[in-house]
Amino acid sequence: MPLVKMTELFAARENNSFAVGAFNVSNMEMAMGAIKAAEELNAPLILQIAEGRLKYSPLDLLGVVMIAAAKKCKMPTAVHLDHGSTLETIKLALSLGFTSVMFDGSKYPLEENIRRTREVVKIAHAQGAAVEAEIGRVGGAEGDYKAVDVLVTSVDEAKKFAEETGVDALAVAIGTAHGNYTVQPKLRIDRLKEIFDAVKTPLVLHGGTGLTEDDFKNCIAGGIKKINIATASYDNSARKIREVCAENPNAKFFDFSDAIVQGTFENVKKHMKIFGLENLLAQ
Ligand code: 13P
Repeated sequence: MPLVKMTELFAARENNSFAVGAFNVSNMEMAMGAIKAAEELNAPLILQIAEGRLKYSPLDLLGVVMIAAAKKCKMPTAVHLDHGSTLETIKLALSLGFTSVMFDGSKYPLEENIRRTREVVKIAHAQGAAVEAEIGRVGGAEGDYKAVDVLVTSVDEAKKFAEETGVDALAVAIGTAHGNYTVQPKLRIDRLKEIFDAVKTPLVLHGGTGLTEDDFKNCIAGGIKKINIATASYDNSARKIREVCAENPNAKFFDFSDAIVQGTFENVKKHMKIFGLENLLAQ
């Protein structure tokens, strides 16, 4: 299958029956686990890595693996830079062939976020890639960044931001946070629906780990087209490694490789099913 742009995978605006899962990966084994899930379920896939994780997985190394993995996958797969914060990293991702990049300017005042995002849109569109950006602020911490509070996206700001930047996907803050929740979040599905009615740009949900099946379904019904999952794959892969150690103190290196593939596979498959992706692409 060709490497595709994530926007080609999104449901039509009026189709609120599924959202595409975007799964963060930090090594080859995680990418292999995600691909295995997509192929087994006949589901589209977005592989992504956040700028905050690059100190563990340099983009010039892992990015090449992600592109190769997407080209090898039998299902259409997009490769995306998540939470890009510097032009240097965004340009590197584009040069490696990533089909989309996120610019996260949510820490800036609105006008500055718009100005910086427009610059990224100009660069990425010139290379045929799509751009995601964030308005409002998703809570928690992505990668090694400091945790921040949720700032629920305002409808007027979302509309202005989408129109003035020309982004291809818009991440909104409706009560979710990155990482594991200490208290179950109360999602602002009411606000999501208002934003969906006002904004034509496909909407993205960050902070997927720990949401309930009902939360996901309500978000998809409310217009979300892409859902990001990171922590749950890392946690399940780490749990599998601990199980291997507990079962066999003489476990070998490659047992741990298998544990990571399996841990990511199980988590991606579980979420793809909840997101309505099972057999979406079956003949
Ligand atoms: P979680 O780590 O909470 O799944 O969030 C993932 C995410 O939104 C990546 O951008």
